[in-house]
Amino acid sequence: MINEAKLEITPASSLPELQEIKVKYLGKKGLLTAELKTLGNLSPDDRKIRGAALNMIKTELEALFDNKELELKNAALEAKLASESLDVTLPGTAFQTGGFHLLTRIIDDLATIYKGLGYQVVQGQEVETELYNFDALNIPSWHPARDLWDTFWLTDGRVLRTHTSPMQARFMEAFEPPFRIVVPGKTYRFEAVDATHEAMFHQLEGLAVGKNITMSDLKGTLEEMAKGLFGETSKVRFQPSYYPFTEPSADFAVYWENKRTGQAKWLELGGSGMVHPRVFEEVCKLRKDEVYAGQRGFAFGLGIERVAMIKYGVPDIRYFFQNDLRVLKQFRGNLE
Ligand code: PHE
Repeated sequence: MINEAKLEITPASSLPELQEIKVKYLGKKGLLTAELKTLGNLSPDDRKIRGAALNMIKTELEALFDNKELELKNAALEAKLASESLDVTLPGTAFQTGGFHLLTRIIDDLATIYKGLGYQVVQGQEVETELYNFDALNIPSWHPARDLWDTFWLTDGRVLRTHTSPMQARFMEAFEPPFRIVVPGKTYRFEAVDATHEAMFHQLEGLAVGKNITMSDLKGTLEEMAKGLFGETSKVRFQPSYYPFTEPSADFAVYWENKRTGQAKWLELGGSGMVHPRVFEEVCKLRKDEVYAGQRGFAFGLGIERVAMIKYGVPDIRYFFQNDLRVLKQFRGNLE
């Protein structure tokens, strides 16, 4: 029976075929099973001999089937692997990845620099009331300085904030000194658009309030920022200026040695000054307490687009908002 079975098992080429052969020999109605059933008709002695012989055949048959089954399974696996093989030397398909906008990256860099100096990063609202955008900052409606900020007025009397400074009043109204904050965000001006002016742009506001804050703290802080943005050789220069909410006021320029071009120059970045006592008075009125009476502080504000245009040689402010991938892609990778 073994030889007979071998003749059938050896050429079997698939698992179902093998299974059929297995049933033929070992199944309930199989050939071997039939032989086993005849044992009952034998004498005890014969049954012992015949039984042992049949058991050996059974074991041998089972081994034959197991081996063949393993062989067929391996062959199937080999075939599958061969058909699915991957040529890792073929060039891959590059897929498009997104990236942060250059302005977002600069805001993130500034936030990192200021967090290192113990500042909190907070955000304000883009639609503001006249109170926070102007009056609380010592710019009442009759004040000629209002002309410094060409304003988008909403029909309900609110404004699109013309600077991030309204957060000075809002933060002081809600929190007690001492504190240091920076406020990045969008600002709006009703302006003719050209290569250096946009109706929407970004500012970063800074405000530090405490008992013994001086103008040299302001200068040191701006210098830390300048070094963070433009390298260790950078420095800061003040120029007298005027803002209703600071006194004294100073516009500041940073010195930048451009390693790529070898050029060094001073760049006007923004305005700053010591918080005007009238602003603290307005805040006391808003809070209905005297927590800010006698406080001292400094404030500054700078244009994010200006930093980006200078540092990365972007010649036109309008490029930032046209969403032209040819422009945006240039600022996706490592910028140094
Ligand atoms: N808010 C001013 C501007 O937009 C800048 C500024 C901020 C000046 C804080 C002084 C202090 O022009």
